Amino acid sequence: MNKKVFVTHQLPGERIHELAELCDLNLWMGPGLLPPEELREELEDCHGLLCLLTDRLDSSVIAGAEHLEFVSSMSVGVDHIDVNAMSARGIPVGNTPGVLVDTTADTAFALLLAAARRVGEADRFVRQGNWREENAWAPDFFTGKDVSGATLGIVGLGAIGQAVAKRAQGFGMEVLGWSRSGRDVPGVNSVSLDELLLRSDFVSVHTALVPETRHMLDAERIASMKPGAVLVNAARGGIVDEVALAEALVRGHLYAAGIDVFEREPLPADNPLLHLPNVVLTPHIGSATTITRARMADLAVGNIIAALGGEPMPHCVNPAVY
Ligand code: GLV
Ligand code: GLV
Repeated sequence: MNKKVFVTHQLPGERIHELAELCDLNLWMGPGLLPPEELREELEDCHGLLCLLTDRLDSSVIAGAEHLEFVSSMSVGVDHIDVNAMSARGIPVGNTPGVLVDTTADTAFALLLAAARRVGEADRFVRQGNWREENAWAPDFFTGKDVSGATLGIVGLGAIGQAVAKRAQGFGMEVLGWSRSGRDVPGVNSVSLDELLLRSDFVSVHTALVPETRHMLDAERIASMKPGAVLVNAARGGIVDEVALAEALVRGHLYAAGIDVFEREPLPADNPLLHLPNVVLTPHIGSATTITRARMADLAVGNIIAALGGEPMPHCVNPAVY
């Protein structure tokens, strides 16, 4: 009997077509995000699940998925999945590391440059017809903050943090780094988190969201950042206390921020960052290039194909289940 596999969104890439030959495939055709009640219902009888980071798999959802044997997420982060609950059931959880490293590092750097040089604000200024004789080129017109030669602090020195370090070196930045595991990376000056926040003109966050990193940048740590610094977050919203960040930006303690990820997505209308001119906001597009998304989909499908064949997933976050 073919295993039932539910895929929560239409996917790019080539391998999804292969998957249709290997299982009883059920593909959500949208539009938009899969409603949580639909996910619960589909999980009642499927053996395999291929999901996105927008699908929440908490312990109660997992408890209702009686026949579930394997899960693959088309994302590198798995904070939307209760991995401990999966492990307790012996269910492997696959993810898609590697292929999105450079694309996501590019996004972080784009946010850093845009926040430093006020690109979003300047774009709005021009579009709104404000660029006129009485409000034009002047010595202090749209002046920002230099990136070249400044100090960048990278919080989290995994593959994406290291790729951001490379970009920063190309801009002649001094690069400080801190990681929970105390990792040493060539060209990155490893310091304590306190020292990093104190010395960095730019801070870019690249850790996973796990219980230990939730609100790691809280009001106190944000207050300890160098006055006039810029914060970039293309990792997960939950790592930063958004209310404290907004307050620091309003007070002028921080110069600007570039933020791709939020505590709640899509961004609610009452998010305090939404109305600040010195914040560049993007809608969780860190890995969003056509090629990278196809590669991620192919890796996610590859994990399912391995599981269907009784093999370990090539990219599994809880390999102890094997
Ligand atoms: C994107 O945020 C991912 O985790 O892949
Ligand atoms: C700027 O455009 C300059 O010419 O200095």
